[in-house]
Amino acid sequence: FNCSLIMGKFKVLVANNTIPQIAHDLLKSECEVRVCEAEREQILQNIPGIDAMLWSSHLQLDKEMLDKAGPQLKVIGTMSAGYDNIDVEELKKRGIKFGNTPGVLDDAVADIAVLLILAASRRYIEGRQAIEDCSWSHKNGTQWLLGQDVSGATIGIVGLGGIGQAIAHRVKCFNVAKILYTGHKEKPEGKAIGAEFVSLDALLKNSDFVICSAPLTKETDKMFNAESFSKMKKTSIFVNVSRGALVNQPDLVRALKEKQIFAAGLDVMTPEPLPPDHELLRLSNCVIIPHLGSATWKTRNAMAERAAKNILNALKGEPMISPVV
Ligand code: DGY
Repeated sequence: FNCSLIMGKFKVLVANNTIPQIAHDLLKSECEVRVCEAEREQILQNIPGIDAMLWSSHLQLDKEMLDKAGPQLKVIGTMSAGYDNIDVEELKKRGIKFGNTPGVLDDAVADIAVLLILAASRRYIEGRQAIEDCSWSHKNGTQWLLGQDVSGATIGIVGLGGIGQAIAHRVKCFNVAKILYTGHKEKPEGKAIGAEFVSLDALLKNSDFVICSAPLTKETDKMFNAESFSKMKKTSIFVNVSRGALVNQPDLVRALKEKQIFAAGLDVMTPEPLPPDHELLRLSNCVIIPHLGSATWKTRNAMAERAAKNILNALKGEPMISPVV
């Protein structure tokens, strides 16, 4: 059999016209490829009759979309590690295979976590602002814009998956005192890194930096709320590189305004995009960037390649590299 002849009959919808070329090249070499913008209406228009879909979007991939696709849909590959916007139960029910792209973005997202740790603890936003509004003066003295040290700190990681582990490896180089982590269960990787498994409560109470790298699930939805922030140290810093919905955002705003915690560093928030007049942007102790965790050339290409390979493998009846279901 010539595999490409068999594959040639499969139609793949690339449901985002900004997906890196490498995915198009891989898919086109073996399938018929259709591309549309990552807009719900456009996807609904293009989805009928497809065998596979390469997905990269904040949109809801739900029952309506799957109904519109039709029963011949065999596989969906998302170009993301997270898939909280995808109805995985419905995919399972319909026997549609589904893969994501974990691992290849761990380093890039961990780098962004470090950027937020440093920018929030060393008051980057206030410093930059002080230059612009002419309040940088020799008269400010020795107590001006003092921050928190990473060296000697206790780092608490919520969710020690691939990203959490990559963050742990990085912060070790800052001579931290301790790394704590929490999650479903103790992990051998935690031991290997020298991180200590603790309850969420113990992590919140004892950490100087609380870093969220857990996926968004029913269980983790709004897990960081007024109660959590009240347990954290007044000098602590909260960093989120996961999903905005893990945080009760009004509670975080209050905690930052009332200086219940020292600062926050956020790559993710709700909603995304954040309106430019949002309160979070007015807080001098909040460093905020627009969901750039995986946004490097190398990482996005690797994600696109992985998503395309997941799809091709599934269409050939071979195991996906990173299957979810
Ligand atoms: C992911 O892969 O889930 C990242 O958030 C990139 O969007």
